[in-house]
Amino acid sequence: MELIQRPRRLRGSDAMRRMVRETRMDKSSLIYPLFVKEGTGIQEEIPSMEGQYRYSVDRLPYELERLQRAGVGSIMLFGIPDKKDEIGSGAYAEDGIVQRALREAKREFPDLYYITDVCMCEYTSHGHCGVLCGHDVDNDETLKLLAKTALSHVKAGADMVAPSDMMDGRVRAIRECLDQKGYVNTPIMSYAVKYASAFYGPFRDAAGSAPSFGDRKSYQMDFHNRREGMKEALMDIEEGADIIMVKPALSYLDMISEVSKATNVPVAAYSVSGEYAMVKAAAKMGWIDEERIICEMAVGAYRAGTQIYITYFAKELAKFMDEGRIG
Ligand code: PBG
Repeated sequence: MELIQRPRRLRGSDAMRRMVRETRMDKSSLIYPLFVKEGTGIQEEIPSMEGQYRYSVDRLPYELERLQRAGVGSIMLFGIPDKKDEIGSGAYAEDGIVQRALREAKREFPDLYYITDVCMCEYTSHGHCGVLCGHDVDNDETLKLLAKTALSHVKAGADMVAPSDMMDGRVRAIRECLDQKGYVNTPIMSYAVKYASAFYGPFRDAAGSAPSFGDRKSYQMDFHNRREGMKEALMDIEEGADIIMVKPALSYLDMISEVSKATNVPVAAYSVSGEYAMVKAAAKMGWIDEERIICEMAVGAYRAGTQIYITYFAKELAKFMDEGRIG
């Protein structure tokens, strides 16, 4: 057989395979999501997310230390308040849980990069991502509160804010508010391409943020839609988003690819709680090789075009990169 092209020539040894590797990753592109809650002395495991914890503010430094040592330099903070109300006032309270955690964390670990999730669902008694008008979320009223929330995070030390509510016009509302107060250089990472997804289930257990009635389909996107995702991405860039996020990651690699090709902003992919929980559960049963699955999922997202990867496996991935197993 006279074959001219023999692709196997480039797969013959580890050195060869590494040389021609197309996807290279770096620890600096990882973001680790972290839950903080009211109280003291708390480090409690999240039942549906084995290996992930909720921390009280005083316990947070232990985890920040571990992250810093692992070489994971960026975190995304989520708050779990003690009290919730109709208008989610804990989200924008000066002494709210995220605001206090930020001040403390920044003081002890000033070199880490702090991103905050800007949303109302952890703070509203009804669990929706904004204030209600009847049984629907009132878009424009919610915008004011989201801007207020983002501003309070930045004042408390957030380096970047990430709105995840999916209200129309939130990026513009937040940008205007931050600019007006002089925070023109604080970037916005928009959860622009965010689908109404069952993959968020474990997160809602973790944060106690499941809606008490209905679902999020009137604001998060229908997962059948690709072009609508592009519309959201392009609109948010026009409104001032600096980074566009696609969420979830695993079933949405087409969206990562498309957004990265059609825009010129950095793309982030969020490998969400359900993705984490599936890997953990299957690994526990002995049905999959956890480490190899973690690597394959991450590389898949980068190969699709993401530049930033938000994952509960950030520390593990950092270690695998150090060991040269991926990247
Ligand atoms: C808040 C928010 C959610 C997630 C990130 N920000 C939950 C939701 O939209 O219901 C999900 C993250 C995950 O599942 O890991 N709106």
